[in-house]
Formats: sequence, C-alpha cells, structure tokens
Amino acid sequence: MVANGTGVEMGTGGTRDLQTKAMPAQPTRVTGLTAKPPGPNALYSNIDKVHGDWRDDLIRDGYVVIKSAVPAERAANYRDDMLSYLETFAGGQGFKRDDPTTVLEKHLPIMNEKGMILGYGAQHEQFCWDIRAEPGVLNAFTTIYDTDDLMVSFDSMNMQWPNRKDAQPNTPWPHQDQHPETWNFRCMQGLVNIFPNGANDGGLIVCKGAHKLTEEFHNEFRDEVDKVWSWTPEWYGFTKSGMEWLEKKGLEWVKPCAEPGDLILWDSRTPHYNLPPTGESPRFCTYVCMGPLSDISQEQLRLKKEAFENCRGTTHWPQGLNIIPPGAVPVKRNGEECPHNTWQPRKKPVVSELAWKLTGIPYIQTEA
Ligand SMILES: [Fe+2]
Repeated sequence: MVANGTGVEMGTGGTRDLQTKAMPAQPTRVTGLTAKPPGPNALYSNIDKVHGDWRDDLIRDGYVVIKSAVPAERAANYRDDMLSYLETFAGGQGFKRDDPTTVLEKHLPIMNEKGMILGYGAQHEQFCWDIRAEPGVLNAFTTIYDTDDLMVSFDSMNMQWPNRKDAQPNTPWPHQDQHPETWNFRCMQGLVNIFPNGANDGGLIVCKGAHKLTEEFHNEFRDEVDKVWSWTPEWYGFTKSGMEWLEKKGLEWVKPCAEPGDLILWDSRTPHYNLPPTGESPRFCTYVCMGPLSDISQEQLRLKKEAFENCRGTTHWPQGLNIIPPGAVPVKRNGEECPHNTWQPRKKPVVSELAWKLTGIPYIQTEA
C-alpha cells in the first residue's frame, strides 16, 4: 500500500551545496537532554483511532511506502554517493558504475548473499548519516512514536545487481526481526530506496497483515523441533511448516514497489525477506530504524556511544543491545579475512545536530 506523503512539510529538494551548507562543520553539541516518552498519538496507543493517513495502512498491512521521504534530487545525490563509494572502495578496486562487467566481488566490498555490506564501518559512511537525518525520514518516525526524542540504528546498506555472475544464491529467508515471545508492536523498521524499484527489481518482500497473527502463530509453533538457528533472540525464522501455516490463513506475500527517495516502513513482527533484482536496474537501499529514547537505559546509551565512537554497526534495533563487534560477522575474500576491512569508514562522519541527537549521546546523564 502506498501512502501519499507523511503529512509533514518535506521541502522541494535542493542541491548538494545547499545541503552541505545546512550542515555545520562543528555542530552544536547539546548534552544532558531528557527524553519525552511516546505521546498519546503514538501508533497503537489507541487501536480504534483512525488517523486518516499512511498510519492506517501501516497498522492494517504491517508495512507502508511513504513517497518522497527523501526528495528526488537528494535521493539522486545519495545514489551518486553510493556508486562513488564503490568506485573508490579501498583506493579503487576496478568497479565502474557504467560497466556491468565490473560487478564482481574482486572489484567490490564484500557483501553477503542478501546484498548487505557488514564490514568496513560502512554503517558510518557520511551518506548513511545524512539519510538518517533527512527531515522526511525523521518526521515519519516522530509521527509513529509521537515524540521527537528518538534513537537510530547503526544499520548498513544493501546493494544487489541483476544477473550478477559471482554472487551466492539468495534463497528466501522469511523471518521476523522480533523475539517470538513478544507479540505487541515494539519496533518500526525502515529502508530508503535509491534506484527505481519495480516489480522485477528485487528488494523487500513482506507477508501482508501477518503481524496481527504473531501471538496465534507463536503459540502454535512454540515447540517446533526444527527451529531456524538465530544468533540473537530478537529474530525468528519461518520453517516450511510455518510458511504453510501463513498460507493456510490466506496471507499474501507482496513486493512493495518504490521510487528513489521513498521510505518503506514495516513492523518488526511482519514476516519478510529480500530477493535479488531480475530486471535491468540494481537495487540499492540504506536501512533506517528508530525507536523512542525513553525505552532505552543509560547503560544501553553508553554502549551506543561506544559503538558510535568506534564506528560499530548494529542490527536494526536502535537500542544498544545488538552491537556488532569486529569479527562477529564474516567479511571473507577468497576464504580469508578481507585485507581491505578495517571496520572503519573512509572518513569519520560529520553529523548534524539532528543526527547527533539520534545517536542518543546527548541523553546520557552525567554520573552524580
Ligand atoms: Fe529483517
């Protein structure tokens, strides 16, 4: 389901120069902030409430596409940033954006079979931070939680090409990114789409409406013997019998299509996976997930600060629970640790004041 806008002013786009000028080189560093909890208009605070906008679609379907959360001109700039990132990777390893024959692992950062870049401190590339602080993206999440005090995940990006010769097969991996014994809405996941993403262009596939059956499903499947292994409790993989259960309920797997700059949101309870593109266009996106800072402990904030300062990535959970330490995920090239992987971005990001708040660091209270 596609919604028309976030109901907030998103601007009409601007040049890269304007964007850079708007971001101070030395942003004001606020400290000692107190987080306001979600307000009375937060999603699911009143289940009977009709919002009259994209939130109704999100509640009903478990996902929504918010059009032009990033204005088209800036989305094009981010596409250029991402392609330049690949062309300059480790000093330039041979990838050229206009030469499909260079879409080979030897020319690129290591990506897993799903298209995720998990090494190289990629989560802290400047364009990742700029996208996180995009007004339309931020406004979508402040509308969901009805508070301005939010923390963002240090998620990565996804890059996939059609007809890639040397990629491992990307077999569907249907899952929920939420503990199977927690059934209420807890987290909104998001991605900002970069290339035109039509029916054959791969990307996110969701099981429409299945978030509403989470409790019923997990009560039935609690004791299944062939559970899919997970490194984190905040994840559940659907087995063949689980998929059959969803099908018997008449639920449908759908592919949300999106234009550059559209923000796709999905409830962490919504089963999902991704597919590689089979058309003409690559599929690029960055993941952006936010949650209320009032849900996060001071200890988690301090972990998140450490992760920010050391350019560590996280899963989609904004809380500091799932920080990925160096070496925890394989970044192997020809069977060996990738020699280009320093776990650091090309340059430390310069974050705006808005993005600085999203790190959660200004909300750390000084010890008495
Ligand atoms: Fe996921």
